[in-house]
Amino acid sequence: MNKIIEVSELTREYSVKNKRKKEIKLALKGISFDVHEGEIFGLLGPNGAGKTTTIKVLTTLLTPTSGDVKIMKKDVVKEGEEIRSNINFMFGGEKGVYGRLTIWEYLKYFACLYKVPISEQNDRIRELLKLVELEDKKNHKIYTFSKGMIQRVHIARSLINNPNILFLDEPTIGLDPVVAEKIRVIIENLSRRKITIILTTHYMKEADDLCDRIGIISQGEIQVIGTPKEIKGKFSHLNVFEATCRKIQEFSLNEHNLFKQVKVHQINEDLYFLRFEVDNSQSYERVRTELSKVVEVISLEQKELTLEDAYINIVKVGK
Ligand SMILES: Nc1ncnc2c1ncn2[C@@H]1O[C@H](COP(=O)(O)OP(=O)(O)OP(=O)(O)O)[C@@H](O)[C@H]1O
Ligand SMILES: [Mg+2]
Repeated sequence: MNKIIEVSELTREYSVKNKRKKEIKLALKGISFDVHEGEIFGLLGPNGAGKTTTIKVLTTLLTPTSGDVKIMKKDVVKEGEEIRSNINFMFGGEKGVYGRLTIWEYLKYFACLYKVPISEQNDRIRELLKLVELEDKKNHKIYTFSKGMIQRVHIARSLINNPNILFLDEPTIGLDPVVAEKIRVIIENLSRRKITIILTTHYMKEADDLCDRIGIISQGEIQVIGTPKEIKGKFSHLNVFEATCRKIQEFSLNEHNLFKQVKVHQINEDLYFLRFEVDNSQSYERVRTELSKVVEVISLEQKELTLEDAYINIVKVGK
C-alpha cells in the first residue's frame, strides 16, 4: 500500500502567556501514523486532543516542533510549497467567505490564486458547482446563503486545485442532519475519485460510515489506529444492552459491579431508558435477573457495540 502521508514522532508545542509568564503547552507528544493513498482516514478525539494541530502541521500551516512529516514523500518543513500545490483543506465553521461575491466569482478568485490555467477555469468551476449541487446558485451572492450552502462553497473552494489530498476538519459541524448527510455523500464521491481524505469529526457514526481507518488521539497521543471494525473488535469481551425500566435507583445501578458505562435517560415521569455494558461471559438471563434486582425491567435487548462505545472506553483509559 502506497503511503501518501508519513508522520513520525511528531511533537508540537504552543507557548502560552499566563500572568506575564510564558508557559509551554505540549499539544502533540510524539505521534506517529501513516495514511494510505486513496483512503479516508479519520482523526477522532476529545476537545483539545490535538486533531486540528495535527492537520495544521500536515497542511504546512504550522511547523512541527520536532519529528518528521512527509506528504507525498516531501518534507513539510523543507518542501512546503510543492506540498501546498497538491493538497487543500477546509476547516468546519470557517467564516472566511467573501459574502459580496457570487459563488462563481469566489471560485474564480481562488482558481486564479491557485494558478489554474485560464482555459480550464470555467470547466473546473462548473464541475465543482455540480458536485456540491450549487449550479443553480452560481450568480447568487454568498451572503444570502445558509450555513449548509456556505459549507458546500468551502468544499468547492478546497477542490479548486484538484488536490491529491484533502483535509477536512469537522466538515459537518453545526449542520442539520439532512445537510450533514449531503456533505457525507460528497465526501464519499470524492473518495471514489481516488482523493485521499483526512477527516476529523466528533460524530462517531459519521466516522464509522465514512472512514477506511481511524486514529484515536487523546491528550496529544495516539491511543489506537485501525479500521472501524478492528477498533470495535478490541471490545468483543463486552456486550451492550439497552433497557426500558421503572423505579430506577441510579446509585444501585452504578454500584452494581456487573454494569459498566451506564447511561440513563428519563423518558417520562417514571419511565427510563438505560444503556450499559457487561462482560460477555454473562448470559442474557443473568443480566435480566441482576437488573431486576435494582429496577423494574420492562424490556431488555442486546445491541451491537458501536464505534462510540469503543471510543468512550478508549478515551477514558487514555485519561
Ligand atoms: N494557538 C494556540 N495557542 C495555545 N494553545 C493552543 C493553540 N491552539 C491549540 N492549543 C492547545 O493545544 C491543544 C490541542 O488543540 P487542538 O485545537 O489541536 O485540539 P482539537 O483536537 O482540534 O480539539 P477540538 O475537538 O476542540 O477541535 C489544546 O490544549 C489547545 O488548548
Ligand atoms: Mg479542532
